[in-house]
Amino acid sequence: MERKFSCKFVCLVLLMIGIFANAAFSKDMKIGSCIYRFNDAFMLRFRTAMTIEALKNSDESVTEIEIADSQNDQVIQNKQVDDFIAEKVDALIINPVNRMESMAIIEKAKAANIPVVFINREPTREMLDSYDKAWYVGARAEESGIQSGQIMAEYFQANPDADKNHDGKIQFIMLKGENGHQDMILRSKYSVEAIHAMGFEPVELASAIANWDKLQAMNIMNGFVMSIGPENIEAVISNNDEMALGAVEALKLVDYNSGDPEQFIPIVGVDANAAALEALINGEIIGTVLNDADNQGIAAVKIAMAAASGKPVNKDTIGYDVMDGKYVWIPYRKVTRSERNY
Ligand code: GAL
Ligand code: CA
Repeated sequence: MERKFSCKFVCLVLLMIGIFANAAFSKDMKIGSCIYRFNDAFMLRFRTAMTIEALKNSDESVTEIEIADSQNDQVIQNKQVDDFIAEKVDALIINPVNRMESMAIIEKAKAANIPVVFINREPTREMLDSYDKAWYVGARAEESGIQSGQIMAEYFQANPDADKNHDGKIQFIMLKGENGHQDMILRSKYSVEAIHAMGFEPVELASAIANWDKLQAMNIMNGFVMSIGPENIEAVISNNDEMALGAVEALKLVDYNSGDPEQFIPIVGVDANAAALEALINGEIIGTVLNDADNQGIAAVKIAMAAASGKPVNKDTIGYDVMDGKYVWIPYRKVTRSERNY
């Protein structure tokens, strides 16, 4: 009898220890995140994806994500990082304003022993290597460049009259994202190289930086249309969708890309934002490249959670391949009417 009682008692104590330990392990988790600027259509998709992923994980451990708008100002962002660290967040997810200034953020995180995941704007390898709890989630910029160039070249293969002056060359305008951004540099370079690789000679009529922004691109394109003449422009290659849509607006002002096949300039973008898919369905642009914000956002939150709970960051813990222990690369995908994959 005695023995039986004490066994029950021991079991009860063990159970209580178990409950207590479990509660201690699945502690509330808070992720602090900074986005270079909220007013960016693609980064809005990214924010949504991260928020949904944090909510999904909130039964295992209460995961909260607070996302701050860095208002395109690195000084503001550094201050936001200081505040998150003072608040003792469990992990940081940072979309740097200036990726070349990520070292200051890495040093802050390292001093506080807080894991940091960079997204969309790539720090250098050297910077990431300086802290064992620093990672990068993004997509390979050259891949999107190649795919957008291929979309344009495939359009010229299928529509020989798109070569309006029949010189075998593609006279194009390039709308560029932001100075120093890896996506600006590599998309601009590889899109043109892909056109070349498919047997066309690309000839740049003009190019300009429009900071990923629709309105800036519209104004710039408007200027090009006036100075060059829409009849002399054979293609518009844009580093992202918003700027591609700005080009559509500028062309509509001169009755181009408004339904008349004689008055059409093929435009290609990157991102596959909702507004661009609509423009694609309406025949205003010829294609875009899916920049997969959903998977990038999920991967970033999964790394943050694994690292914050002391787990290793690898395919088993986050569900994505981790290259060199540092990088998660989410593939791009072509989106055109003929691929019918949107
Ligand atoms: C790119 C995206 C752009 C813009 C930029 C911000 O990957 O294509 O639309 O959001 O990131 O860094
Ligand atoms: Ca031509």
